[in-house]
Amino acid sequence: MPEIVALNAALGARIEGLDRSRANDPAVAALLDKALADHLLVVIPGAPMSPEQTRDLARAFGEPRAQLRRSKRDNSVPEVSLMVSTIKTDGTTDKTVYRAEDWHTDDSYFEIPAKATLLHSIEIPSRGGSTWFCNMHSVYDALPDATKRRIDGKRAIHGYDTPRAKNRPAPRTPQELAETPDVEHPLVRTHPVTGRKAVYLNPNRLDRIVGLPRSESDALLDKLTEEARKPKHHHGHVWNVGDVVVWDNRATLHRVVNDYPAGEPRIMHRVLLQGERPA
Ligand SMILES: [Fe+2]
Repeated sequence: MPEIVALNAALGARIEGLDRSRANDPAVAALLDKALADHLLVVIPGAPMSPEQTRDLARAFGEPRAQLRRSKRDNSVPEVSLMVSTIKTDGTTDKTVYRAEDWHTDDSYFEIPAKATLLHSIEIPSRGGSTWFCNMHSVYDALPDATKRRIDGKRAIHGYDTPRAKNRPAPRTPQELAETPDVEHPLVRTHPVTGRKAVYLNPNRLDRIVGLPRSESDALLDKLTEEARKPKHHHGHVWNVGDVVVWDNRATLHRVVNDYPAGEPRIMHRVLLQGERPA
């Protein structure tokens, strides 16, 4: 059986000794999925895989599902997205690259957001481009009791875009627009596996708290975001080619650092795992 080695960090564990082709053996898959819930981030080193292999490995953590933006889906394996975050000097850099530089959790604009995301590095730049993660259980735990009382039981509106986000997303097709109305989620989520509470924040998508005037909602969201920006809740992953990294969107935020050289390819496979209604 593979070994789960906790990182000496705010979150994360490294999976050692895993034969990726055996990841879907029931006992191994259960171990991996439990490690994800416990550590919120798992790193599985190895060699680059085909889109089919990436999708199959993702199945150890749940049911892969195709992402909203059709243009990113792999032609033959639609559950795998090809994420090209190469910074181009001709002004054609994918807007997602700039959006991803701000803290976010994937898919919170859906009623049923992805429970987890798998990212697999195919090509990485010679330096920079690390991905950072924030432990939203520890963010919740660090809040003053009075703030916890203010946010417990509150609900919030998430949209595909919000003026609170620093950068605008790429345009959606009419079909994609129809699939992304605003949705409402609890501001504090209880993790369905561990029972721990997390602030369900998304600085890129969360527009307002239900029942509060805009100014009060903005002030409270700013305060929560300020706690989440503290480095004590963070861990950064420095990529090697072939790495698989899986994070739990129910209790983490992530961001990429766009400090890598322009023109150097940064290409990942991504798989989103079907989640449950936040509660
Ligand atoms: Fe993301």
